[in-house]
Amino acid sequence: MAQNWTPSSWRQKPIQQLPEFPDKAALAATEAQLATFPPLVFAGEARRLKKQLASVAEGNAFLLQGGDCAESFVEHGADNIRDFFRSFLQMAVVLTYGAQLPVVKVGRIAGQFAKPRSSNVEVQGGVELPSYRGDIINGIEFSPESRIPDPERQMMAYRQSAATLNLLRAFAMGGYANLENVHKWMLGFVKDSPQGERYRKLADRISETMDFMTAIGITSENQPSLRETDFFTSHEALLLGYEEAFTRIDSTSGDWYATSGHMLWIGDRTRQLDHAHVEYFRGIKNPIGLKCGPSLQPDNLIELIDALNPANEAGRLTLICRFGHDKVAENLPKLIRAVEREGKKVVWSCDPMHGNTITLNNYKTRPFERILSEVESFFQIHRAEGTHPGGIHIEMTGKDVTECTGGARAVSAGDLQDRYHTHCDPRLNADQALELAFLLAERMKSGRDEKRMVVNG
Ligand code: PEP
Ligand code: CO
Repeated sequence: MAQNWTPSSWRQKPIQQLPEFPDKAALAATEAQLATFPPLVFAGEARRLKKQLASVAEGNAFLLQGGDCAESFVEHGADNIRDFFRSFLQMAVVLTYGAQLPVVKVGRIAGQFAKPRSSNVEVQGGVELPSYRGDIINGIEFSPESRIPDPERQMMAYRQSAATLNLLRAFAMGGYANLENVHKWMLGFVKDSPQGERYRKLADRISETMDFMTAIGITSENQPSLRETDFFTSHEALLLGYEEAFTRIDSTSGDWYATSGHMLWIGDRTRQLDHAHVEYFRGIKNPIGLKCGPSLQPDNLIELIDALNPANEAGRLTLICRFGHDKVAENLPKLIRAVEREGKKVVWSCDPMHGNTITLNNYKTRPFERILSEVESFFQIHRAEGTHPGGIHIEMTGKDVTECTGGARAVSAGDLQDRYHTHCDPRLNADQALELAFLLAERMKSGRDEKRMVVNG
C-alpha cells in the first residue's frame, strides 16, 4: 500500500461500485465547486465521537447507530426527521435505562445517499436498465433518463444534508431532547401498541427519578446533560469524489478529516485491502466503520485493521458485523478470536439487517424474528468470548411503515404492500425499533448482572 496519502490518492487504485458518469467535465466541475462549500461537521466533533466510541471499545458505553437505508430527496421534510429523531431518542432512553450505560447516538442520516448494489442492472417487465444507486447518483424512477448518473445530484445531497443536520442540531441542543420530555417522544401510532405501554411505564419511572432530582436541586437548568444530547451523523462513504471534496485539513491538529459526516463507514462490497475505499479511509482521522460480512476471513480482517488503525487507537474503528441469523455463529467467533489474539482495540457492533434480507410477494423484506435472532446470537457469542457487545446498527424510520415482517403488532407478507416506502432496503418501523430496544436492554441488563455476580463472587 502506498505510503503517501492525499485526499485523492484513492484515484490511483482499483475501485468497486463506481458509477459511470457520462459527462466527466460536469463531474469534475461539480467536485471543484463542492470543495469550496462549507464543511458539514467539524473535526472537533469527530474527535468527541471518537472519544465516546473509545469508551464503547473499553466496555463502558453502548453504540446506537441507525436510520434510513437510503435518504431520498422526495422524503426530505421536517416531520420525517422529527419522527426519526424521537423514535431514536426513545430507543436510546430504553437502552440507557436498561443497560445503565451511556448510549452513543449516531444517525445514518444527513448524508446517507449513495448505495452499493449487488447487480449493475435491474430488469422490470423484460426491460433492463442500470440499477438505482441512491439519490446522490441517479433517480429511482424506472426510466433510461432517470438512471443516468447526474453530478448535479451531489449539490442537492449536500444541501439536504446541511438542512437535515441543522434541524437535528436544533433538536439535540434546543430543548427537544430534554429528558423532561420523555413522555412526549411517544409517536401517535406507537401509543396504543404493547411497546407504547412498556415505554410509558419506563417513562413514568424516569419522571419520578427526575422529580426526586429536582427536589435535591439537580434540574435541566443547571445540568446540561439533562436537557441536551450528543447526536452524531454517519453514512457509507461510497462516492469518493464527493468525499474528497469535503476532506479538509483541521487547523487545530493539522490532520485531514472527512467533513461530510462525523463517522463514515466502508461497505461490505468495497473493503478490498488494496482498493480505493480502504486507501481513502486510511488517511482521514474520523472514527470509521467497517462492514464485516460472511466472506471476511480473520487474516484479512487483521490486515484491514492494520491498514485502517495502525496506531491501535480505541474508538477509531467500529466493526459492523452483518452475517445473517444463520451465519453469525459460524463467522463471528473466529473474527473475535483473531482480534483478541492480536490485541486490537475495536468496537463490536451488530447490523442484524443486511444478512437477513429475503423476498416475499416481490418485496424485499426482513423477518423481525431473524433480526432478533441475530442480535441474540451476537450477545451470546460475545458473552462466551468475554468481549463487549458494543453496539447495534439498524435501518429504521420513525414512520409506521410495513417493510419488515413480524413484530408484536405483526406485519404479514400481505401487509407489505400497504406502506412500503423505502428507497432501498426494508427498515424497522418505530414499533419494531422500540421492541428491539427493549430486548437489547434486557440482554444488556442480564449481562451486567452476571458480571456483578462474578465480581462479587
Ligand atoms: C447498508 O448499510 O445499507 C449496506 C449496503 O450494507 P452492507 O455494505 O453491509 O451490505
Ligand atoms: Co441497507
